Amino acid sequence: MHKQVSHTQKIRIARQFSRAAGQYNEAAQIQLQVAMDALSYLPEQVGVSLDIGCGTGRITRMLAARSNTTYAIDIAMGMLHYAKTESVSPPDPDGVITWLQADAEQLPLQQHSVHTVFSSMVLQWCAQPDLVMQQIRGVLKPGGQAVLAIMVDNSFFELNSVWAHFDQFRHVNQFHRAETWRQAALNSGLKVEMQRQRYTSYHLGLRELLSSIKQVGANVLLQASEPNTQSAQPLSRSLLRQLEAEYRHQYATFNALPLSYDLVFLHCQHSDS
Ligand SMILES: C[S@@+](CC[C@H](N)C(=O)[O-])C[C@H]1O[C@@H](n2cnc3c(N)ncnc32)[C@H](O)[C@@H]1O
Repeated sequence: MHKQVSHTQKIRIARQFSRAAGQYNEAAQIQLQVAMDALSYLPEQVGVSLDIGCGTGRITRMLAARSNTTYAIDIAMGMLHYAKTESVSPPDPDGVITWLQADAEQLPLQQHSVHTVFSSMVLQWCAQPDLVMQQIRGVLKPGGQAVLAIMVDNSFFELNSVWAHFDQFRHVNQFHRAETWRQAALNSGLKVEMQRQRYTSYHLGLRELLSSIKQVGANVLLQASEPNTQSAQPLSRSLLRQLEAEYRHQYATFNALPLSYDLVFLHCQHSDS
C-alpha cells in the first residue's frame, strides 16, 4: 500500500472526482448500494452529523433527514458545487447542511462537536488510516458513533490478475486491508465492530467495465509515481482485445465480466461512552 498520498496526488484525486460530478449519480450504482447498507447501521436520529467525502450530496441529504445539523466535506470542489446547486435528491429545506471543502486527513471541525460521523466509499483514498481515525475520534462527542464503509485490498482483483498476464506494472490501486482499518480505529481509542462484504458489478465488455470506474472519478492510480509504474504500456486497441479475452477466459459469468468491490464496514463508538 502507498505510504502517503502526496499533495499532487490529492490534487489529481480532487480533479478526477470534480470532473465526474455531472455523471456520478447515474454511474455510481454500486456506491449507492454500499451507502444504503452503511446508512442502515444508523439509528433514526443521529444528532449533529458529519458526512466525510459527500460527493454529489445524495447520501448527505438522506443523513440530514435524520440530523438537526449536518456537515458535509469533500476534497473535490466540483463535487461540492454539484451537491449544493444541482442535486435532484431530497432538498434541504431547513438548511441543515453546511458544505465544506476539506481533506478527511485534516477535518475542519471543532473537537468533540459531532454525534455521528458517516463516510461511504471515500477513506480508501487516504493513505494514513491512523491519522484518519484520530481525526474522526477527535471530532466525535463522547458517546458518539461512526459508520464507515471503506474499499479494501482485493477490490478489482480480476483486473489486477488479468493485467499480470501482460506486464509487471501496477494498474489497479492496492487499498489497505480491513484489519489495518480496524486496528487504526482501536489505536485511536474507539470501540469497533467490523463486517466485510463483497459487491459485484457486471459488464458486457472490458471497455464498459473500465469506463464504469472512470465515470465515477475513481481512476486515479495512487502508486503511479512509483518508479516501476512509469513505463506501463498505453492501452491500445489490440491490448484491450487481449485483456478482454483473458478476462473472459478467467472470469466471465454467462458472458458478462464481473468486477468485485471488497468493502469493510466499521461501526465505531467513542469509548468514553
Ligand atoms: C466514490 S465517491 C463517494 C461519494 C459519496 N460518499 C457516495 O457514497 O456517493 C468518493 C468521494 O470522496 C472524495 N474524496 C476522496 N478523497 C478524499 C479526501 N481525502 N478527503 C475528502 N474527500 C475525499 C471524492 O472527491 C469523492 O467525492
